[in-house]
Amino acid sequence: QSPPSLTGRRVVVTAGGTREPLDPVRYLGNRSSGKQGFALAERAVHWGAQVHLIAGITDAEPPSGISNLTLERIETAAQLHEAVLRESVHADVLVMAAAVADFRPADYAQAKIKKTDDDANPVIPLQRNPDILADTVRRRAGTGTGPKVIVGFAAETGDDAHAPVALAEQKLQRKGCDLLVLNQVGENLVFGQDSTEVHILASEAAQRTLGSAEPVHLRGSKVEAAEAVVSQAAR
Ligand code: C5P
Repeated sequence: QSPPSLTGRRVVVTAGGTREPLDPVRYLGNRSSGKQGFALAERAVHWGAQVHLIAGITDAEPPSGISNLTLERIETAAQLHEAVLRESVHADVLVMAAAVADFRPADYAQAKIKKTDDDANPVIPLQRNPDILADTVRRRAGTGTGPKVIVGFAAETGDDAHAPVALAEQKLQRKGCDLLVLNQVGENLVFGQDSTEVHILASEAAQRTLGSAEPVHLRGSKVEAAEAVVSQAAR
């Protein structure tokens, strides 16, 4: 089978975690390494796409010195939201691999928050961040413009009543994206590692337009997972 071609296509990839500041020295963050997003960006460039990579906080070094790849760094979910909306207008494919903080501290303290003399435990009020993926899907539906293929990610462990794939199917419906990449997480979290286990699920609409039937299931490196995701999105 010949490799897919993304020549002439514009792909936006988000990678890494967001950092939500509490005061000038503290933040809420997460353990996303950025590896999966970087592998996706590199694979899309390799197959001919013009890629804009929006990277948050990462352990891994983002790809550099690659023609047809532009890099933008962001820190907060709000900055990521702005960047994704701006770049999605011209994109053919959006891949939301970033681990976006669901909540941010409701108030940013301009000065470092001090310990008080009493023993009281402080409480940090949180505020929900916008769901960037769902918002991009909504805007596409509202305006008829935006990426033809929108790819979301989900990390699921499953629960007593539901297998991870069943939860991912629900998330695919809820978010309204075209493809959903399920990272099955267990005792060995996928964060920071080079290997991963993914299922790639397609919405009913995407199954019709992309012509994919069975969900793809793959256990391997994040580079192999990236190949599978990008080749599905490129169909
Ligand atoms: O709901 P959940 O966080 O599991 O969804 C994960 C997917 O949604 C990922 O693709 C992530 O990039 C995206 N997301 C988002 N905005 C948020 C939270 C998650 O775009 N506030």
